Amino acid sequence: MNTVITAVAINKGGVGKTTTSANFAVNLARKNKKVLLIDLDSQGNLTDWLLGSERFENEVVTTIAHVLLHDPIKNGVFDWEENQTIISVEENLDIIVADDDLMDAETTLTSYSRREYRLKERLEELLEHRHYDYIFLDLSPAKNLLNVNALTAATNVLGVLETRIMTLQPLKKINDFITMIKLSKLNPELKFSGLLLTKFDQRTNSNKQIKDLIESTYPNLTINPAIRMNVDLTDAPSINKTIFDYAPKSNGAVDYENAVDAWVKMV
Ligand SMILES: Nc1ncnc2c1ncn2[C@@H]1O[C@H](COP(=O)(O)OP(=O)(O)OP(=O)(O)O)[C@@H](O)[C@H]1O
Ligand SMILES: [Mg+2]
Repeated sequence: MNTVITAVAINKGGVGKTTTSANFAVNLARKNKKVLLIDLDSQGNLTDWLLGSERFENEVVTTIAHVLLHDPIKNGVFDWEENQTIISVEENLDIIVADDDLMDAETTLTSYSRREYRLKERLEELLEHRHYDYIFLDLSPAKNLLNVNALTAATNVLGVLETRIMTLQPLKKINDFITMIKLSKLNPELKFSGLLLTKFDQRTNSNKQIKDLIESTYPNLTINPAIRMNVDLTDAPSINKTIFDYAPKSNGAVDYENAVDAWVKMV
């Protein structure tokens, strides 16, 4: 199987991108798939969640910023085995971490040649000597060069939508972003693999209406089930657990489990 490289995206903050990246990745890893998570957000939320913010305080760790800024013309082939670039989270699941260096890296990157292809080229090198079934790129909501890199490297976009009427605007923005990436020939084959509705509150009519609207507008793309609003999903990261360890019987765990099963058939 070719590696599925998924940008977990939408141009809006706080909708559940990181929650989805982590829980999809862990779920697939526990189904015996080889999975790599890449934190592409300088907030480092995914990194702090899965590794704990103190874990690497006194150690040298190579972040995604360093991976992107590596210049093969000056420095030769990137050494993936050096200085903890790929960190094991658990069996079958690795992560490349991010911290606030990524903000400066983005500025530096603008002066590089082939700056949009940095991530794609690094991943191609990596996949020559390591196999992954799935790579998830956890994006920030920005329309910046990092996310251009992500959409250039990705084979598909998983759109994460908060179940609110306001979600149509960010959906349009990410759609325009994908169109721009395709038209500029950075990644002509890029497509949505699915749209995942999150924070669905089945008690409110407006939530049901927006879910119906998305499902009827994008019948082949909407992932069923939507992820219900669930306080366990909010609480799990604060003690560095995914929903499957924190509350395996919760609505959040059940919905993510079923959403992953639905999505793997769509991608
Ligand atoms: N279905 C849900 N029910 C309840 N809380 C949720 C749900 N999904 C996500 N959350 C919570 O919402 C907050 C934002 O989620 P998350 O960090 O995944 O969003 P994000 O899109 O990655 O945000 P950012 O744009 O800042 O990176 C977090 O506190 C998370 O725990
Ligand atoms: Mg996030």
